[in-house]
Amino acid sequence: MATTPMPRASSARIHVNVDGVDHLDEVEPRLLLIHYLRDRLGRTGTPIGCDTGNCGACTVDLDGVTVKSCQLLAVQADGCRVTTIQGLAGQDGAWHPLQKAFHEQHALQCGYCTPGMIMAARDLLRETPDPTPEQVRDALEGNLCRCTGYQNIVRAVLAAAAELRRQGAPEPRGAGADLPRASGQEAVT
Ligand code: FES
Ligand code: FES
Repeated sequence: MATTPMPRASSARIHVNVDGVDHLDEVEPRLLLIHYLRDRLGRTGTPIGCDTGNCGACTVDLDGVTVKSCQLLAVQADGCRVTTIQGLAGQDGAWHPLQKAFHEQHALQCGYCTPGMIMAARDLLRETPDPTPEQVRDALEGNLCRCTGYQNIVRAVLAAAAELRRQGAPEPRGAGADLPRASGQEAVT
């Protein structure tokens, strides 16, 4: 008996810069950004936790704004610059002060929440270079940790803030999308 072929999902062309590398790709319109990063590009440093926008494990930077990458489609990143935890280290491989502080302050146990915590903390420190512990807790309220009790995470963010101030080099916000968009969509806001 003849079977009716399944219709092929349409695809969309996207142009995304991830951790400094340009990618021009065809993706299914329904593909989540987190799956694009992990499964297509192999950027597995960003984990998937809840897949529902609750845990913050999948947090990345999209043109200077932290986003939960399980809540965005890959096509929404067209024309954007994405920074993941794997893009934070310097050219020479030196850890970002936040990575160093999380290590030194024992701010992780299983480490599953750590990439998202660091990306969210980075966002805070760009806006608020000298935060109070309460401001750190507020900034990280969308990031859940099942292991640490948060005390050392707050300590680590405060230590990294002090180090960044000492270096006198607060990170600027992203320069915004200046990549040619592959599909002519509107920018994500
Ligand atoms: S995996 Fe995205 S918020 Fe939990
Ligand atoms: S260190 Fe295990 S979830 Fe945070």
